[in-house]
Amino acid sequence: MTLSEIYQKGAEILENKNLGFYLRGVETEYVMKHNEEIFREYRFVQSAIDSIEATTETRLLDVTLQVPIVMSSITAPIPRIQRDGLLKIATALKETGSMMWTGTPIPSNLRELVEVGVPLVQTVKPYTDRSKVMKMLSQAEAAGATWVGIEVDAGQGTKILDRQMAKDCSPMSVSELKELKHKISRPLVLKGILSPRDAEKALEAGADVIVVSNHGAHTIDYLPHPLEVLEEIAKVIANQIPIIIDGGFRRGTDVLKGLAFGAQAIGVGRPILYGLAADGEEGVKKVIAEMAGELKRAMTMTGVKDPASAHRGIIL
Ligand SMILES: Cc1cc2nc3c(=O)[nH]c(=O)nc-3n(C[C@H](O)[C@H](O)[C@H](O)COP(=O)(O)O)c2cc1C
Repeated sequence: MTLSEIYQKGAEILENKNLGFYLRGVETEYVMKHNEEIFREYRFVQSAIDSIEATTETRLLDVTLQVPIVMSSITAPIPRIQRDGLLKIATALKETGSMMWTGTPIPSNLRELVEVGVPLVQTVKPYTDRSKVMKMLSQAEAAGATWVGIEVDAGQGTKILDRQMAKDCSPMSVSELKELKHKISRPLVLKGILSPRDAEKALEAGADVIVVSNHGAHTIDYLPHPLEVLEEIAKVIANQIPIIIDGGFRRGTDVLKGLAFGAQAIGVGRPILYGLAADGEEGVKKVIAEMAGELKRAMTMTGVKDPASAHRGIIL
């Protein structure tokens, strides 16, 4: 199956399993549509002569990846797509040199997933009951998570179409985040940064990694696409900590656009679900490998020798 065929087959299977709802966006679905359309606005400056074969290897803090493409935080529908779906994804991501990210709920077999040997990040919602947040972070650390994180953009929970999904959440303050950072022993990720102001606050709170994200259209309607705010955010971050971006990235060329605007790695959410639905572990492997192959071709032909060398000048 080609990448396009995996996406199409995966979407059909998810629809047939009555899981299509999870792929939809909040309220009017403006964010959802915009996340898909924005990539068409940017084209590449080709650099065909003297270009050298690119490598996709990437280092993020203490982790070396073969590809700058990671899974985005998702747990919810995965066990309903395939039995042992999370385990299949963990194995596929390990074999492709990627990174696993799990979200809500924390998988009951988190330790088993870590034992597969894939670097794993667990993110937690800012539940109003802050003791629950701390308990979940500790649970993730005890299971061996590589990094742990807070989904700062879920301060009003999550919503798909007109249905509120995650509830009982409230925005966290810098001092609360600082306190959490103080209590944990693994690097702290803040997911859902979407403005330079929040990027400044993330640094102030002691974040070790940020994810520039509109939560895949599951929080507030009429948010911008992360690519539209990434350059300003990257200026604030000034290479002090890694930036990961997600939202609508489907092809290797989309990934190169994310790198060019200032991210060190790109997260993919729905593509992992499509890969799993279409062909289990093999399907997920294929999604990452095909995207990485496309990325490598595009990097080579734009004169980008490795992910860290991507720059705004390759975008028209
Ligand atoms: C079904 C589903 C469940 C998700 N669950 C979570 C979650 O628990 N925590 C979180 O931070 N983000 C969650 N997200 C958002 C993803 O982490 C990510 O930001 C988004 O899916 C990226 O966009 P993409 O799906 O277009 O690649 C979820 C997204 C989907 C589609």
